[in-house]
Amino acid sequence: MARRRLKLVVMVIMMVNFFIFIIISRHSSQDKNGLNKVRIPSKPFWSKLVPKSAYCNRQQQILDLQNNPVLANYSTADVPDWLNDTSLTSYPCQPNFKVTTQVKEYNSLPVRFKDFLIFMHCRSYPIMVDQPDVCKEPPFLLLAVKSLAPHFDRRQAIRQSWGRAGVVANRTVVTVFLLGNATPGDHHPDLSGMLRYESVRHRDIVQWDYRDSFFNLTVKEVLFLEWIQNRCAGARFVFKGDDDVFVNTFRILDFLGGLSEPKARDLFVGDVITNAGPHRDKKVKYFIPESMYVGMYPPYAGGGGYLYSGDIAARLHNVSRQVTLYPIDDVYTGMCLRKLGLAPEKHKGFRTFNIEEKYRSNPCAYKSLMLVHPRTPQEMIQIWAWLSNPDLKCQ
Ligand SMILES: *[C@@H]1O[C@H](CO)[C@@H](O)[C@H](O)[C@H]1NC(C)=O
Ligand SMILES: *[C@@H]1O[C@H](CO)[C@@H](O)[C@H](O)[C@H]1NC(C)=O
Ligand SMILES: *[C@@H]1O[C@H](CO)[C@@H](O)[C@H](O)[C@H]1NC(C)=O
Ligand SMILES: *[C@@H]1O[C@H](CO)[C@@H](O)[C@H](O)[C@H]1NC(C)=O
Ligand SMILES: *[C@@H]1O[C@H](CO)[C@@H](O)[C@H](O)[C@H]1NC(C)=O
Repeated sequence: MARRRLKLVVMVIMMVNFFIFIIISRHSSQDKNGLNKVRIPSKPFWSKLVPKSAYCNRQQQILDLQNNPVLANYSTADVPDWLNDTSLTSYPCQPNFKVTTQVKEYNSLPVRFKDFLIFMHCRSYPIMVDQPDVCKEPPFLLLAVKSLAPHFDRRQAIRQSWGRAGVVANRTVVTVFLLGNATPGDHHPDLSGMLRYESVRHRDIVQWDYRDSFFNLTVKEVLFLEWIQNRCAGARFVFKGDDDVFVNTFRILDFLGGLSEPKARDLFVGDVITNAGPHRDKKVKYFIPESMYVGMYPPYAGGGGYLYSGDIAARLHNVSRQVTLYPIDDVYTGMCLRKLGLAPEKHKGFRTFNIEEKYRSNPCAYKSLMLVHPRTPQEMIQIWAWLSNPDLKCQ
């Protein structure tokens, strides 16, 4: 019985194929009148690879080609000149003065852009202060705070409030502060002795030997991604933010505890900015000239603070090698996420642009939030006291 049915099915399939064959051959015989030739498109149907004029876009093009597995065995002789720029991968990390001729109108750029461009290829700096054992017991949440050497009071306020490490709400929390170094040319007072004391006392300082400037925050980001893999790969979740924000650690732990897979594994939430592009007004802190970058930014979470999974941290670390450094760190992280095929998710609890003034001194306003920017050290301690009070009753 089954055999017969099978035979029938095979017969029907063969008949259908036969009809398709007839239809196709009839169709193709219609252009018999001398037109039955292979048609070759007059123009290539792929776009020609031309170098982008903006420097960061062009360097990214180069990296993309170098990482393209299809072109892995491309002979260098076939590679156009502009693509054969080894400065991005050259080691050791020497200043790359080629940029002075490769970037349009280099000489008229503000000095911070020159400083950035000359060292843009460099992403590895020696670690000066490390905390190899902070994550001996892998924490549920790693709080990583971008700080600057002189911000002693901010760090102390964070330790006494939202960054209190140990066990919070029955979850292990580890806090580290991420610092660069002061460079002699910048006339900073020497704080190294006080920093050394602080680091011994609190064991939460991680410092690398590079100039801690705004445009080097991306260096801080890639060094931190590397550091997590070396020192804290077991962390379930990571918060990374500034030292002038208030973080409601209780709310964050509560939120994280309620996540299920695969949402937890792919978590990346913050105050997400979409459809943004570079500022072209020279007076804005985030100004980027057209000779450096053209095009829109990918969706990115504002650098005041965002939250992601340890798994994403590992993936970001992997992919960051394929993304050229960009002078704005949160945009750079957005670029890395895009490369991973991910997008950050917006969460209403992240208020990097503050809350309405009339609510700022209302303890209950903070109860359901995860992050508010900006807050002074005193405000951090005050808000933390409000939230820690078991008698706080909110609707
Ligand atoms: C490139 O060459 C290596 C060694 O000759 C070979 O193993 C690899 O499969 C090649 N890759 C591609 C994409 O052709
Ligand atoms: C590319 O760079 C390599 C190493 O610097 C060099 O040997 C090669 O000749 C260059 N190729 C072209 C096409 O410029
Ligand atoms: C605290 O966490 C441990 C391990 O995660 C769990 O077994 C225990 O039930 C938790 N205690 C409370 C009070 O939630
Ligand atoms: C970043 O740090 C490096 C190493 O200290 C320094 O040479 C470079 O000028 C810094 N870049 C900026 C934009 O400050
Ligand atoms: C990172 O890259 C390595 C080597 O390519 C790979 O083995 C590993 O699975 C990657 N890790 C993640 C988290 O994607």
